Amino acid sequence: MRRDEFISISSQAGLALCLAALLGESCGSAVYFAKATVAADRVSVPKSEFQYLKKEELRERNFVFVKPPGAEFPVCLYKSSDTYTACLMRCTHQGCEVEVQGNRYVCPCHGSEFSTGGAVLDGPADRPLKTFKTTQDETHIHIWLA
Ligand code: FES
Repeated sequence: MRRDEFISISSQAGLALCLAALLGESCGSAVYFAKATVAADRVSVPKSEFQYLKKEELRERNFVFVKPPGAEFPVCLYKSSDTYTACLMRCTHQGCEVEVQGNRYVCPCHGSEFSTGGAVLDGPADRPLKTFKTTQDETHIHIWLA
C-alpha cells in the first residue's frame, strides 16, 4: 500500500469513528431504549432507567423509549418532575416515526411538531399523538397498552 493510500484510508476511518462517537453521544442522550418488563396489558419501566452515569456523576434523562412486542412504532415515556407521559411515536399526518427534538416531538417527513403530551404544536398533522395511561409505584412506571 502506498503512503498516500494509507493516509487517505486512515483519515476516512478516523472521520467515521468521530462521526460514530458523535452520533452515539447524541443518540445516548436523546434516544434510550429502556429495559422494560412486558405483560399482556402493560409495559413496566424501572424508574432507574431515567438515570445514567456520566463521568461518575448521576444524571437524569427525560425521555426513554420502549418497543412493545409486535408494535411497529416505539412508545416514548417522558418524565417531568414526578409525572410521566407516554406517546406513540407515529405521526398522525401520514404515519412517519416522530423524533425527540429538544422538549418536543418532530416529524422528519413534513415537519409536524407535537408537545411531550402529544398535542399538535404545528401541522400539517391535525390530530394529537396517541397517548397511553401511565401509573407508577415506588420503583416502576406502568404504561397501559389497552
Ligand atoms: S407524516 Fe408527519 S408530518 Fe407528515
